[in-house]
Amino acid sequence: MDVAEALACREGLKLARDMKWSKLQSGHLRFECRSIPTSPDRRFLLPDAENSPAKAKPPSSRAGHGLSSLILKFPPNFVRQPSIKARRNRSNIGRGSGGGGRGRQTKARERLGGGIVTDAITTPVVNTSAYFFKKTADLIDFKEKRRASFEYGRYGNYTTIVAEEKISTVMLMALVPAGGHLVTTTDCYRKTRIFIETILPKMGITATVIDPADIGGLETALEKNNVALFFTESPTNPFLRCVDIELVSKLCHDKGALVCIDGTFATPLNQKALALGADIILHSATKYIGGHNDVLAGSISGPEKLISSVRTLHHILGGALNPNAAYLIIRGMKTLHLRIQQQNSTAQRMAEILEAHPKIRHVYYPGLASHPEHDLAKRQMNGFGGVVSFEVDGDLLTTAKFIDALRIPYIAPSFGGCESIVDQPAIMSYWDLSQSERAKYGIMDNLVRFSFGVEDFEDLKTDVLQALEAI
Ligand SMILES: Cc1ncc(COP(=O)(O)O)c(C=O)c1O
Repeated sequence: MDVAEALACREGLKLARDMKWSKLQSGHLRFECRSIPTSPDRRFLLPDAENSPAKAKPPSSRAGHGLSSLILKFPPNFVRQPSIKARRNRSNIGRGSGGGGRGRQTKARERLGGGIVTDAITTPVVNTSAYFFKKTADLIDFKEKRRASFEYGRYGNYTTIVAEEKISTVMLMALVPAGGHLVTTTDCYRKTRIFIETILPKMGITATVIDPADIGGLETALEKNNVALFFTESPTNPFLRCVDIELVSKLCHDKGALVCIDGTFATPLNQKALALGADIILHSATKYIGGHNDVLAGSISGPEKLISSVRTLHHILGGALNPNAAYLIIRGMKTLHLRIQQQNSTAQRMAEILEAHPKIRHVYYPGLASHPEHDLAKRQMNGFGGVVSFEVDGDLLTTAKFIDALRIPYIAPSFGGCESIVDQPAIMSYWDLSQSERAKYGIMDNLVRFSFGVEDFEDLKTDVLQALEAI
């Protein structure tokens, strides 16, 4: 199609013939392509096929049905090439052959979109900041929604889309109107509190802060204010308090307010907040989802309408996830279920041991009967996660001595990864506040947050017990 034809189609064809954008239920965008062998748009799916007919052809046994289903799993310029010869001759992201000398060849391939051919079992990492159009007509087709493209790195990336990544705090701005009101809970990641208390007021957004179990407080806030959003972690950081997601969702929905749950501590496996009635669930993918303490990322999921308003703001603000980070998320998620099983189990057993230990004053873990929301946690969670918080029988220095005596965990912020991590919140996250200011948030000098990794349970137990012996 040339430019004139493309323009003529402006009011005409409603859908791209062989491809269409589709949105996953979670609101994340992905490509969907139909069968290519008979498709007039085949050149789009195989960008350099016309110049290098030998490459990227589906094996005959897979013609028609087979290839289309393979392509469904990949964006349009990725074509799986499962022949043994291709496997032998190509690296995991191969390129088709082009004509000309070496330099010209490389350039030509780039101009033609790379024509990436892969039989890799992993998702290719696509490092690009923009996507090109072969000719103006293609660009117009894209503008008229007859052709799919991310256009610019800010709007999407083939690797990133597989990882379905998004960032978190943008959401609060996108979902609460300027001058609006939100309700949140006392115990939470400190930076979230700082954002709500210091950044949102600049946009006229105010907040009511309630205890995670204070349903009466939520009802009052909903009565008194035009609440746009109830935002809470569940379980919370660092005291692992739990919010009755089903109940708060009902109360909020009756008053037209949305519910967003930060489920980072729970993981998507231990708690299904959307199924319990929440509108939006967010996770710091830096933690369990990535799982290897090697990537910073976040995700947000919910109905398409809500996610797209967040996405629009995200496009304006930027902060797109780079594809290498997306790749690490994809890889990390392959073992999520195994890691979580191990971490749930170790944390539960260690919480019980710690609770019975004479040098421990208190243990905060939803899997313990002593936890204020234990019954609720049992109802709405499948497991209680890998983080246990507890108070050592001693002061700031005794607690630091215990931490320094540990041999396995790293002293670091963050949690949820394969490696165990320990921190003393009074020092790690609240050191800039005085002891009395820290106490307002319940952060005592002897508080320890222990994220159990995937190390052997007996090794961790021995380590914790020997460190307690040392104080
Ligand atoms: C509950 C919770 N949500 C969100 C975050 C922010 O995570 P990230 O640093 O990946 O943005 C944290 C960080 O510790 C957290 O504890």
